[in-house]
Amino acid sequence: MRAVVPAALFVGLFAVGCGEPPPVTPATDLGPPIVLPTVEGMVAAEDMDEAPDCVEYELHVGTAEVELEPGVMTPVWAYNGLVPGPLLQARVGQHVHVKVTNDLDEATTIHWHGLRISNEMDGVVHGELKPIEPGETFTYKLTPPEAGTFWYHPHVRPNEQIERGLYGMFVVHEAEDVRPSVDVERGFIVDDVLLNNDGSLDDAFGGGMETMHGRYGNALLMNGQDSVMELKAGLGTVERWRITNSANARTMYLRFTGLVVKRIGADGGLWPQSEVQTINGDLELPVGARADLEVRFAPRSTEGKVENIVLGYDENDEIVEFGIEQIHVTRDPAKDAVRRKHGHFADPTYEHVDASTATTKRLTLSGQNTPSGVQFTINGSAWPEFDDWSVQAGELQVLDIRNELGMEHPFHLHGQLFTVVDRNGAATNEPGLRDTILVPGGARVRIATRFENPGMWMYHCHILEHEEAGMMAMVDVQGDGAMPMDEHESE
Ligand code: C2O
Ligand code: CU
Repeated sequence: MRAVVPAALFVGLFAVGCGEPPPVTPATDLGPPIVLPTVEGMVAAEDMDEAPDCVEYELHVGTAEVELEPGVMTPVWAYNGLVPGPLLQARVGQHVHVKVTNDLDEATTIHWHGLRISNEMDGVVHGELKPIEPGETFTYKLTPPEAGTFWYHPHVRPNEQIERGLYGMFVVHEAEDVRPSVDVERGFIVDDVLLNNDGSLDDAFGGGMETMHGRYGNALLMNGQDSVMELKAGLGTVERWRITNSANARTMYLRFTGLVVKRIGADGGLWPQSEVQTINGDLELPVGARADLEVRFAPRSTEGKVENIVLGYDENDEIVEFGIEQIHVTRDPAKDAVRRKHGHFADPTYEHVDASTATTKRLTLSGQNTPSGVQFTINGSAWPEFDDWSVQAGELQVLDIRNELGMEHPFHLHGQLFTVVDRNGAATNEPGLRDTILVPGGARVRIATRFENPGMWMYHCHILEHEEAGMMAMVDVQGDGAMPMDEHESE
């Protein structure tokens, strides 16, 4: 049985919502109201608006204490007191208002990672775009144009604010007729944090080594818990798992045992059925990126696990792999499928770009030592300096990203989605629409985007320390663009 959200989800106490009286004719035809699937594993935020085409959430940003380590309370910064923050969800094309109140002692913003929304709602601080000061409230207004697994986090001092606990998942559900048929849907955010012996977060941020390599934690969290997550599943059932990596710097490698796992999507939604990939080795998940998986028990197996593969030193000081178990799945016969069935979904389409004719922009990732410390650069400039670069909205461009350094950089582009063209000149099997891509040390990765969403958009390394040390820039996308769902009313 597919888990369903009770109809009460749609009944708020007051219609505090999108603000306007219900329109006689809705701006966008969303079809009949639907019941969204439950995403298990996270606390879902409550929709405060009863109108069917409108969702209203409230987030309070403040301090809290949560149990990251079993039996130990850790002071954190949190959305609504939760780490991860509450699950936000909507269906494609709905108007989403998120009222954010900042109860921290410092300014913050929320960036909606991967969502192609209007520029002024992107949560960056630049020019006219100001952060939410302590005590202030700001309402973000978003209309997600595509389904997918997204996430939200601050874009002010993110290396400290995200590490302290400010991150959450934002699921945009497919319309019912193209949603995969699964028995259970779950959300996971994998993170690592640097803890002191007393369970508090190490609060020395931004030291030289940390700036150089990014902050690596000594505790791995799955949905905010440093303990093995116990799940129950039925034989013959198919689950959909959405996974995000919210770490400051660590690329995660997840190894599945006793489970058959197929990757059905990445950042910007599902892949066509023809490109679904069975995961045989480890699933590589760079910081900021997302994976959408179809998971079931392997044949004759009634137990499964997910290990996070990390490198460490053994007793002979040799570097070896360690598998740290983060998820343990056992059978619950009560959940067994009545008949064996398979997940399936309508093929969403996206463009396979012929990059040979497109304008190419080269982006060189590099860095240098300066008297004031390590500086990371894109095309020789360190934020707030950046290369003057503008494109016409709707124009196909290839970004030729070259990493001159020995260390990897997860490259993230705001406000647009892109496809991967090739790696080091060779074809690569990385389908789908993305907003974050790993560029290994010394590597060259070409991506292609149509820059459909106008505005001044950031692109940067998602190793938060690298971003803070300069590896961040902006592209000016000029014109009206071609975002079909982008109807942001201003009040
Ligand atoms: Cu997830 Cu500019 O960030
Ligand atoms: Cu980097």
